[in-house]
Amino acid sequence: MKTALSVKHLIGIKDLSAPDIELIFSTADNFKSVINRPIKKVPSLRDVTIANIFFENSTRTRISFELAERRLSADVLNFSASSSSVKKGETLIDTVNNILAMKVDMVVMRHSSTGACKFLTDNIDAVVVNAGDGTHEHPTQALLDAFSIREKHGKVKGMKVAIIGDILHSRVALSNIFCLQTLGAEVMVCGPPTLIPKYISSLGVKVEYNLMKALEWCDVANMLRIQLERQDIKYFPSTREYTMQYGLTKQRLDSLKKKITVMHPGPINRGVEITSDVADSAQSIILDQVENGVAVRMAVLYLLAAKQPEE
Ligand code: CP
Repeated sequence: MKTALSVKHLIGIKDLSAPDIELIFSTADNFKSVINRPIKKVPSLRDVTIANIFFENSTRTRISFELAERRLSADVLNFSASSSSVKKGETLIDTVNNILAMKVDMVVMRHSSTGACKFLTDNIDAVVVNAGDGTHEHPTQALLDAFSIREKHGKVKGMKVAIIGDILHSRVALSNIFCLQTLGAEVMVCGPPTLIPKYISSLGVKVEYNLMKALEWCDVANMLRIQLERQDIKYFPSTREYTMQYGLTKQRLDSLKKKITVMHPGPINRGVEITSDVADSAQSIILDQVENGVAVRMAVLYLLAAKQPEE
């Protein structure tokens, strides 16, 4: 049985093997039982200092990492670019090196530029965890998504998962594709042709432009938000038209022959990609995903802090 990850940093799911992911999941199983006990803290990362460096907005990921770190008894330092000297022109490396000079062991970073976390690993001497870099990867989101599918269905292997929405601008989609395929699931992407990159079929995923066909095929539908903040041109005529074509409504869900599981990484735009009655329905595991995020991030931090990579 594997006891250490094969990586020193968590930059992308692409770097992880199936045994790495299974190790994260079995460690997360243990931490999930810990955080459901009356005393939710363990001393595993006592004397480890972790900096959460967020150059982009976040609710779930930032809070979830901070809670995971505190549950592991780490010392936590939060840095938000919007209220820092980045606004005065300081570079990424200077900013991070100043934080590291205060004896920080691990850096959890979200950045709008693809490759920013990998760049850090080449230039600083600390463990780096990617909390989302541009349109590249969001590895802990994909891990908690797959962990939640495993919890709900007892397995990931053989499951049919449709990722629906703005695939083009989504780091969640890419990390989910790598994670689910590594664990033996079948993956389909669905959305308007303008929001599905041409290269995507070369990753071995099915491509479907018709929402109802995707829903009829899948066991799990992972609904993604339209990322208007990353769109410099118009990819569809109007939000109303997008919703008519690709919005998951109760009527569409109830017309299916089987009860599929509904997921969403958040933040949700209620009434656009998903209606409130679907998001809050018994078929939705959206809040389970959020709950599982803490245990999965505890597992990632614990494994990265505790072990040097296997040779
Ligand atoms: N899912 C996710 O990354 O949400 P936040 O942007 O709120 O962190």
